[in-house]
Parts: sequence; structure tokens; C-alpha cells
Amino acid sequence: MSVNIQVCLKKQIDDSYNIFVGKEILAAQINEIVKMVKANCYYIISDSNVYPFHGNTIKEELIKKGLKVFHYIFPAGEQSKNRQMKAMIEDDLIKNKAGRDSLIIALGGGVTGDMAGFVAATYQRGIPFVQIPTTLLSMVDSSIGGKVAVDTDLAKNMIGAFYQPKAVFVDVSTLKTLPEKIKLNGICEAIKHGIIFDAKYFDFITNNADKIKSLDEKVMIDLIIGSIKIKSFVVEQDEKEKGLRQILNFGHTIGHAVESLTNYTILHDTCVGIGIASESLIALKLGMINKSIFDKIIDILKSFDIPATIPKELNPDSIIEKTYLDKKTKSNVVKYVLPTEIGKVDFEVEVPESIVKEAVIQLQN
Ligand SMILES: NC(=O)c1ccc[n+]([C@@H]2O[C@H](COP(=O)([O-])OP(=O)(O)OC[C@H]3O[C@@H](n4cnc5c(N)ncnc54)[C@H](O)[C@@H]3O)[C@@H](O)[C@H]2O)c1
Ligand SMILES: [Zn+2]
Repeated sequence: MSVNIQVCLKKQIDDSYNIFVGKEILAAQINEIVKMVKANCYYIISDSNVYPFHGNTIKEELIKKGLKVFHYIFPAGEQSKNRQMKAMIEDDLIKNKAGRDSLIIALGGGVTGDMAGFVAATYQRGIPFVQIPTTLLSMVDSSIGGKVAVDTDLAKNMIGAFYQPKAVFVDVSTLKTLPEKIKLNGICEAIKHGIIFDAKYFDFITNNADKIKSLDEKVMIDLIIGSIKIKSFVVEQDEKEKGLRQILNFGHTIGHAVESLTNYTILHDTCVGIGIASESLIALKLGMINKSIFDKIIDILKSFDIPATIPKELNPDSIIEKTYLDKKTKSNVVKYVLPTEIGKVDFEVEVPESIVKEAVIQLQN
């Protein structure tokens, strides 16, 4: 005989949050943060490149208000986004007696946001955090949607959670301190947003390429707001990626294959650009888009100096093999997200391998 006792935990959760976007607002944002989350202790997590530029502005504002504030600076770079670093940060939180009423402030790019968010998700079973993204990629992509994670030696973003921040504060002026080489890293994710969801946004990027390249703050604000609106709309419909959220993976099936086969020596965003070109060519070959749409997509990539070609040294069969490791692959069938026009995509499209191969070879010439 057994006795059945139900532990009834039906919940309605409201994880809504606001994203603030502006220029030169870093110091003023602190007022918002403090108003929003009345914490006993504020704990800034940042990396060795970002903190020297922007960390003290935040720390000093908090100190001026008489608040308890600590900071942790980890060595900049993806190689820091791991379980060991997460544990070191957690130990430091414990050492500083940070309680459940602490607030983590993630100040930096996607690496910082992903790792600090994951620390927040598990420290004392979850404490609040806010994000202050400082790269274009983190402003238009990684700070929205609540995916937080660290990498392992075997795979990226393998250990993580869905954990939403209390707020995100975007100050476009922080982009000015980025090294020239990566200042537009994230533009391909924004272009992707246009192709999958919003033709007007795509045209806006096309028409403002020069201003974007010079980081014109007004245009950057509109660029970032546009992407945030698209990504957050998609995430609102499907937070846990059971359906629609998959469309955000456009460009990522071939993109990830190229990224992995080149041993992560090409920036993720550039690989997404290469993936956008490749998957658009697949769509053209399948008759899903016409040549003029394909040309528009290639032109926008080129206007940002993104190569619309696949490195010649990669074996097309190896690329195809890698696509099977894609997270959208179910029952050994690769599912593609492919455009049907600018602003619209189909997802879960099965593509004959011969077409993928043709497209890859064509983009290698
Ligand atoms: N959570 C998500 O949904 C999501 C989505 C896309 C990418 N990501 C993750 O984002 C990460 C990549 O993000 P990233 O490109 O921002 O990398 P990053 O955080 O490493 O930043 C790139 C480089 O720029 C430096 N930097 C950042 N802001 C700066 C500033 N304002 N001034 C000077 N230097 C600055 C950093 O120190 C680093 O060297 C990856 O780990 C990826 O997995 C997550
Ligand atoms: Zn991406």
C-alpha cells in the first residue's frame, strides 16, 4: 500500500523587466538600479578590460549613496566563462558575506552577462541581477532573453539556466571604448533580426550603414532598440525555445559549423554573417526567395565588411557533418530556418544534403 501526498506548487510567475536605452546615462542608471532593487549589498562583476573604463563610475555612484558595494574583476575573454571562474566568484561573494538581499550588477559583454547571470541564478538558490551590456552583441542579443551559462572544455554554454534579470541598462556611449576590431561585433545578429522579422528594420540598417560604422549615437540607439524589440517579442512568445524562438537561430546552423571547424578563431558574429549568406543561398536554391532578395542580403553583409564566403580550406562534407551537431537537430534530421522574404522565415525546414553542399561549394569560390 502506498500513500500519495501531492506537493502542490502551481505557480504564476511574472519575470517581466524593463530595458533602458540611452547615451551617457551610466551614472544616472544607478539611481534606477537602487530604486528598483533595494539591496543590502551591490556586487559588480566585470572583466579586466571593461572595469577600468566603466567600473568606477558605477562603484563611486553607489558609494556616494552610502551603499555597501564590492566588485569582482575576472580576466577578459571567453576562456574565463567556465565553472572554475564561477566558483571563484561565488567564493568571493561568500567571503564578503553577500546575503540573499544582494544585487549582482553584470557590467560587460556577453561573457560577463552570461556568467554573472548564472552566478545570480544559483547563488543562495537565486538572487537578483541587472545587466549593463557594453558590447553591441550584448546590447542587441545576449542581454535579452534570460539565457545564462558557462562553457565546459567539451562544449560552449553547456551548463546554465533560464534566469531573467531585473532590468537591463544600455548606455551606447560605452561602445566608444571598444577596440576598433570588435566595435561592430553584433551587427550580424541585428541584420538577422531584420531578415527574420522586420523588413523596415532591415532597410534601416541598410540605409544607415555608414552612421552605424561611425557609432553615431542616435542611430545606434535606434539600431539597438529595434533589435531589442524584435528579440524580446520572439522571447515573449516562446521563452524556452520550444517553437518560435528557433527563428533566432537563422544563420547559426552553417554559422556554428564554420565557427567550430575554424576552432573559434573567427568571431561568432562573423560566422553568423557567413551562415546568413549560406542559408540565404540555400533558400534561393530551394526557390524560397528570389535573386533580388538574395542580393540584398549579400549587399548588407558586404557593407559591413562581413565576408559572404566560406573559408576555402573547409571541407564541405565536414561542414555538413557538423550541422548534425546543431541543437535544432532532432532524430538525426537537420532543421533549417530559411527566409521566404525579407522579414519572414520558415523554420524546421529539411534541406537535401546535395543542396547544402552546392551552396557551400558556391560560397567557397
Ligand atoms: N545569453 C545569450 O542569449 C547569448 C547570445 C549570444 C551570445 N552569447 C554569449 O556572449 C558571449 C560573447 O559576447 P561578447 O562578444 O560581448 O564578448 P565579451 O564579453 O568577451 O566582450 C568582447 C571583448 O570586448 C571587451 N569589452 C567589452 N565591452 C567593452 C567596452 N565597452 N570597452 C572596451 N572593451 C570592452 C571584453 O573585455 C572582451 O575582451 C559569448 O560567450 C556567447 O556565448 C550569449
Ligand atoms: Zn548568435
